[in-house]
Amino acid sequence: MTLILGIESTCDETAAAVVADGRVVRSSVVASQAELHAHYRGVVPEIASRAHIENLLPVLEQSLSRADIKLADIDAIAVAYRPGLIGSLLIGVTAAKTLAWTLDKPLLGVDHVHAHLYSVLLDQPELDPPLPAVGLVASGGHTALYQIDSWLDVRLIGSTIDDAVGEAYDKVAAILGLGYPGGPIIDRLAHSGDAGAVDLPRSMLGRNSLDFSFSGLKTAVLYHVRGVPARGENIKASPPPTLTDADVANIAASFQSACIDVIVKKLRRAIDQVGARCVIVGGGVSANRGLRAALARFPIACYFPELGYCTDNAAMSAGLAAVQLSAGKTSSLALDAITFSQFRPG
Ligand code: KG4
Ligand code: ZN
Repeated sequence: MTLILGIESTCDETAAAVVADGRVVRSSVVASQAELHAHYRGVVPEIASRAHIENLLPVLEQSLSRADIKLADIDAIAVAYRPGLIGSLLIGVTAAKTLAWTLDKPLLGVDHVHAHLYSVLLDQPELDPPLPAVGLVASGGHTALYQIDSWLDVRLIGSTIDDAVGEAYDKVAAILGLGYPGGPIIDRLAHSGDAGAVDLPRSMLGRNSLDFSFSGLKTAVLYHVRGVPARGENIKASPPPTLTDADVANIAASFQSACIDVIVKKLRRAIDQVGARCVIVGGGVSANRGLRAALARFPIACYFPELGYCTDNAAMSAGLAAVQLSAGKTSSLALDAITFSQFRPG
């Protein structure tokens, strides 16, 4: 049995996990910083990196005690080293390198977005999705499509040109005066609203494009709520109009339906282009009930992670790291953290 300790600190969750043989999650501990950032309705990088420093050691200790093992029992250390916020990434990467060096165990740098896709295999020892697959990662930082030929051969084939879909959920929630993160709240409200109540745009970009754009949809919601501003008017400065609970639910349902329509159409295009045999979905938005219901009607199998593994966690990195380890793809102790801007997917 191979036991891998995973560390995650790419954005605003500090996480550690112990995974056996790439599949069996022995422990998965996540310290969310959502409350710290809720006041700002988004992640503040400086606050995030400081919180990672405070949270990392207790989270690591808990992951070992819940797995009922000692550090010496670990076979390798995995860390999500790209992409993410540089200050946040550095905390996890430095901790992982220190552990690998002091324990004299292999270090495995894992791509956080690829790990989101791998999360469908966690706690599923028998699952073997047929490849090639189309991967969809929909989260607060990413909306991207991938061609998955193997777990070590994951190629980007489309991505958002502006806001990520989870980011659009969070911003629309802020426009509607709802809490943060907005995705789960809008998902819940959408259930009781009328998806046809508000006519919102569905940006498809070019005819064969696999890229996404969600900023026009977000702005359409803003204008629907606040009115289209006159030239030079700052609508954000005026007090928000009073919306009834029914108005909010209808806007949530219409927004969610526009997001899902776009994702479903792009997925269909990607399946055709790749000749995919299944779809693999990951990232925070993969928890969305509306998206799960829409993809349940797809002609090919769609795999989703268990709810606890949709948002950021370290088990997904420890899992994917096992595949890298068995292929001999370990990292050197000179492993560098790579941010959004430096990151060139390929
Ligand atoms: O994967 P994740 O934890 O972090 C990133 O790597 O970005 O995703 C967090 C995002 C947030 O934007 C949150 O609003 C969204 O996932 N989210 C959802 C749902 N649950 C979380 N969006 C839509 N529906 C949900 N049920
Ligand atoms: Zn993520």
